[in-house]
Amino acid sequence: MSDSTRSDLSPEHFHVHRLGECRFATPLSVARYTEDDDRIAYSQRVSELCAQGNSPETILSFEEAGPRSRIFFDPSTTTCGIVTCGGLCPGLNDVIRAVTLQLHHGYGVPRVLGFRYGYAGLSPRYGHGPVELGPEQVRNIHETGGTILGTSRGEQDVGEMVDTLQRHEVNVLFTIGGDGTQRGAHAIMEECARRNLALAIIGIPKTIDNDISFVQATFGLETAMSIAQQAVQCAHTEAENSRNGVGIVKLMGRESGFIAAFATLANGHVNFCLIPENRLVLEGDQGLLACLHRRLVKRSHAVIVVAEGAGQDLVQATGRDASGNVKQGDIGTYIKDCVSAYLRERHIDGRVIYIDPSYIVRSVPANAHDSVYCVMLAQHAVHAAMAGRTDMLVGFWNGEYTHVPIPLAVAERKKVRLDSDLWQAVLQETGQPMEMQ
Ligand code: F6P
Repeated sequence: MSDSTRSDLSPEHFHVHRLGECRFATPLSVARYTEDDDRIAYSQRVSELCAQGNSPETILSFEEAGPRSRIFFDPSTTTCGIVTCGGLCPGLNDVIRAVTLQLHHGYGVPRVLGFRYGYAGLSPRYGHGPVELGPEQVRNIHETGGTILGTSRGEQDVGEMVDTLQRHEVNVLFTIGGDGTQRGAHAIMEECARRNLALAIIGIPKTIDNDISFVQATFGLETAMSIAQQAVQCAHTEAENSRNGVGIVKLMGRESGFIAAFATLANGHVNFCLIPENRLVLEGDQGLLACLHRRLVKRSHAVIVVAEGAGQDLVQATGRDASGNVKQGDIGTYIKDCVSAYLRERHIDGRVIYIDPSYIVRSVPANAHDSVYCVMLAQHAVHAAMAGRTDMLVGFWNGEYTHVPIPLAVAERKKVRLDSDLWQAVLQETGQPMEMQ
């Protein structure tokens, strides 16, 4: 399913940079090598494909990920770095482990360095030296949440970061993070190009918010929504067991409501799902409060799921975080207070149950599906790096792993489209009126 309706795309937008000729035979023995002209169509719609013509030059498509038979770097003299940035996300350790093991066992790369606390670990100002990573260091790390490297938000001086990479003779840097991290990765690539350095920068898309464009799903999303779903279930149980019980669950999702939408579908008891993409109106006959009242009259309990970025015009933002993201006002407690006041004013004998699982959804270890996804993304990232790709991240699209140029992936945030199958399914599952605004 395409997640973007951009009509200004051309094949050029999908072009992935290469550092140079692949002069070395790969040491990796696999059943099938991916050819450089193997491509994955961007659209699966026949009408869109026909409109793009019938040639590989005109059809919008991603370079397919996978091991190449010939590679750019000589593994025996290659040093790789890994950095994890931004908020925590289930699966970070799985990715660190799989990248390290693939480099070590698959390609025989002798030196892998883990940079500590995000991009701060690449700046000499903080004094965080890198750690050596090998099979022994990463053996069990996928069993725990978080990242063994630590993380941080915010930009660092790009010149200083490239100085650090040069000082440690790093040839490849894996940047595990969201859109801010990948913008930083692009800046590092530009500085490397300015210095004529053949350094590969390969991103791996991490964020529970799933807001990276041209990637069907980021790792960590699925674990986050399954934990979120448990909170929704508790809210439902509490609400159902009280007369006029209203369970309200606030979930992460700064500007994109994927976790809220998926947790709603997974749970099946939610009556109102409020996401940043949809304008939230509380008052009036079609506002949330009147709709909630009608639901209580009919069923005497209700469940509301609200993404943290919903209804931000109703609350006060509290500044910006180190990544430059707006710190959202607390829409969860605002709705809780409004619903409580509404029940009180109308003398409705009810009870409001408020649950905010907050960081619990993202600091847990990855579930099985996310772990599989992390391994696949990580292995493909290593293949891409060894083949000399740069300024790209590994994506998943139409059932295949792909190379996505970073500028394409971060140009705009992916959001829940209100005309998508996902949102239509949420409306049908909840019974929430489409006019509820
Ligand atoms: O980007 C992922 C995310 O978990 C958002 O859903 C949330 O708004 C944000 O990070 C909170 O991150 P932190 O408090 O670590 O800055």
